[in-house]
Amino acid sequence: MTFPTFHAEAVSDFHPAPSVDEIAATQIQVAKAMPKEAGGIGMFVGVEGDVPRELGLDRPRLASAGFAGKVGQSLVIPRADGPALVVVGMGEKAGRDLTSLRHAAAAFARAGSRYAHLAITLPDLVGVAPADAAQAVVEGVLLARYRYRPLKRMSQQEPPLEALTLLSSLPPEEVKRGVERGRVTARATELARDLSNAPATLLTARRLEEIARVVAESSGLDIEVFDEKALAKMGCGGMLGVNAGSSEPPRLIKLSYRPKDGKGKALEPVGRVSLIGKGIMYDSGGLGLKPNDLVHAAMKTDMSGAAAILAAMSALASLGAKASVTGYLMCTDNMPGGKAMRLGDVLTARGGKTVEVLNTDAEGRLVMMDGLVLATEEQPAPDAILDIATLTGACERALGNDNAGVIGNHQGVVDQVCAAAEKSDETVWQFPLDKRLRQELDSEVADLKNIGGVNAGQITAALFLEEFVAGIPWAHIDMAGTSRVETDKSWRSKGATGYGTRLLIEFLLGFKAPGETRH
Ligand code: BES
Ligand code: MN
Ligand code: ZN
Repeated sequence: MTFPTFHAEAVSDFHPAPSVDEIAATQIQVAKAMPKEAGGIGMFVGVEGDVPRELGLDRPRLASAGFAGKVGQSLVIPRADGPALVVVGMGEKAGRDLTSLRHAAAAFARAGSRYAHLAITLPDLVGVAPADAAQAVVEGVLLARYRYRPLKRMSQQEPPLEALTLLSSLPPEEVKRGVERGRVTARATELARDLSNAPATLLTARRLEEIARVVAESSGLDIEVFDEKALAKMGCGGMLGVNAGSSEPPRLIKLSYRPKDGKGKALEPVGRVSLIGKGIMYDSGGLGLKPNDLVHAAMKTDMSGAAAILAAMSALASLGAKASVTGYLMCTDNMPGGKAMRLGDVLTARGGKTVEVLNTDAEGRLVMMDGLVLATEEQPAPDAILDIATLTGACERALGNDNAGVIGNHQGVVDQVCAAAEKSDETVWQFPLDKRLRQELDSEVADLKNIGGVNAGQITAALFLEEFVAGIPWAHIDMAGTSRVETDKSWRSKGATGYGTRLLIEFLLGFKAPGETRH
């Protein structure tokens, strides 16, 4: 028996982001009649109101099969002489919005997971623009059909989605516009998922640089990359300290998006946003090694914040974002090699503040501090700074896997995050930036230490980050709990969720420079 060796070099045909091409290849048509080639045809049915006559079944028959029409429910009815019918719950009339529609579309896609071609009638919802409805359905279907396949070599029961037909009598131009927006946001989310799902040995900081260069080139972003030498010159002691125990070098990947008109001429931005993402390619815990527990396989996804930023920024030009956006992806792994940072070591952040390392597993904040300081130094200064990180287990324990934590020094920015979270259904819950906990970060030998007490770890982590934002309006998203799911859940497919990608897109598209009111 000859087993393959899993060195990055040995898996030469490993594709780091197959979903990007897969989604581009998925045919999405807008039609007026049912396509005969579809494997499954979806029909929305609410908990009240008429059941479509084409279904050939009445409400009592559906109820006898356990289908009440609730959002998330579905029922597959195979037929001898044509495509299977997939009945999809749409809930009560009053509660129908884009979130329930996306959710229902995801349930449809999962029920029809054996079919490569699906068709569904786009519902005409009161108060919902056709383009928005089309976008929600496309997002729900594509994201629910996501599977991480690049390392699967044996045949799969669930084929990739080749075609999706939306049946609609609504204005086709508007529907198509929504379809394209949904394709762009789903493609971005799946890029983030692919990157987070990739094994850490195959996706190093250097590989991520290569990928980011391709993404930047094809989506109109400027890119600048800083290696270990550059980081040393810049005084990014957090990045270098965390990287010290690794044989793989670090990378700081800086991306810039500047709004342009149709002819490529620069436009005055409506505001300036800087994004900082945690890009820990693998978090072993460092010298304070995490125990050999299966849950720590999730630590290959510790770069999900950085992935969400790269993914969201890849969509900005297509979606015509009007804000100017700079992204900092703070990429390195956290390993326990012979040169690893030790307890009691003191690191100097960009800008000069010193930090005593009292837990080598609280590495996220150490790389984030350098990125935050770089953002504050931009000319002109950003109107808002937003960071996103799989930062604390405390946040996951407090909120579970559905809500991320949000915390900030400016309620106006936090509110914009909350609004984007509602819109994208990448929901958040706010924690207080309570200054009374700040003393827990006092160090005997340095300006700060990198851990607080046993309680409210998500808040002390945020208080640590706040030290580096120089009073600029700022919000922090802790996505430790939402970065992955163990089982399929609505449009989130098991594994990395790509959380934050659509939230950031909505935040950036709707961004308004905040006033002076501070929290
Ligand atoms: N990457 C982890 C946080 C994490 C936990 C992400 C679970 C996703 C799921 C982070 O670097 C970490 O190790 N945090 C420590 C912080 C502590 C040492 C202060 C934690 O949460 O235990
Ligand atoms: Mn850690
Ligand atoms: Zn970590």
